[in-house]
Amino acid sequence: MKIDCQLVPPLHLAEPGDRLFVVIDVLRATSTITTAFMNGCKSIVPVAEVEEAFRLANGPLEGALIGGERGGLTVKGFDLGNSPREYSSDRVRGQTIIMTTTNGSRAFRSLPENATGIVSSFLNLAAVASRCLRSGRDVMIISSGQEGGFSLEDTVCAGGIVRSIRKQIRSRMEISDSALAAEILYDHFKGDLLQMFRLSFWGRYLMEIGAEADLEYCAKMDVTTVVPIYREGRIGLAAEG
Ligand code: MLT
Repeated sequence: MKIDCQLVPPLHLAEPGDRLFVVIDVLRATSTITTAFMNGCKSIVPVAEVEEAFRLANGPLEGALIGGERGGLTVKGFDLGNSPREYSSDRVRGQTIIMTTTNGSRAFRSLPENATGIVSSFLNLAAVASRCLRSGRDVMIISSGQEGGFSLEDTVCAGGIVRSIRKQIRSRMEISDSALAAEILYDHFKGDLLQMFRLSFWGRYLMEIGAEADLEYCAKMDVTTVVPIYREGRIGLAAEG
């Protein structure tokens, strides 16, 4: 199995081939999506732009909730923001949610056509690693990053996945330099993920806007085995394969 990481958001990815993509925006989009599915959400449609979210909600996806953020804050007219703590079972159970966030939802939309993307966060890290292993495919971990740049928290989470695969794998593992660098960063911060968030650019910003409780929530490790999957424009709890 080959493990690679894209540590800054790709403008263009090569053909998916047989690779499985793992998408990370740990503060907060992929933690929020994981939570929504933990709490019984039916499906999430990630879109790049606010206008597209309203267009779908007023047309083909009428009845769906709209969630997400710009600048970390709920968009006017949306039902939900991007705090995982808002995606409680009474709000999301059985619902379809159209979601647009600055980096996370765009990362899904940047995957090659026909690619499968696993939604990953610290909340479901070990389950994501097991899923990668069971697929038997090469893995490309995508860090959503920060507006086109590097993000510490996504890289540390990527490293956690590499480490978890390494622990579980029985066959030979071929690991790229970027995956190795992420794993080394994970080793450095694994004892205090919350502190790592507090050091990061986006973590500091979320504290400034009063969302520190989200940092504490997103730093929880392996609280669920739920592994949402993105395929053909939609995130759901697809069967294995
Ligand atoms: C993003 O997609 O850029 C983030 O999830 C932003 C946020 O923390 O709300």
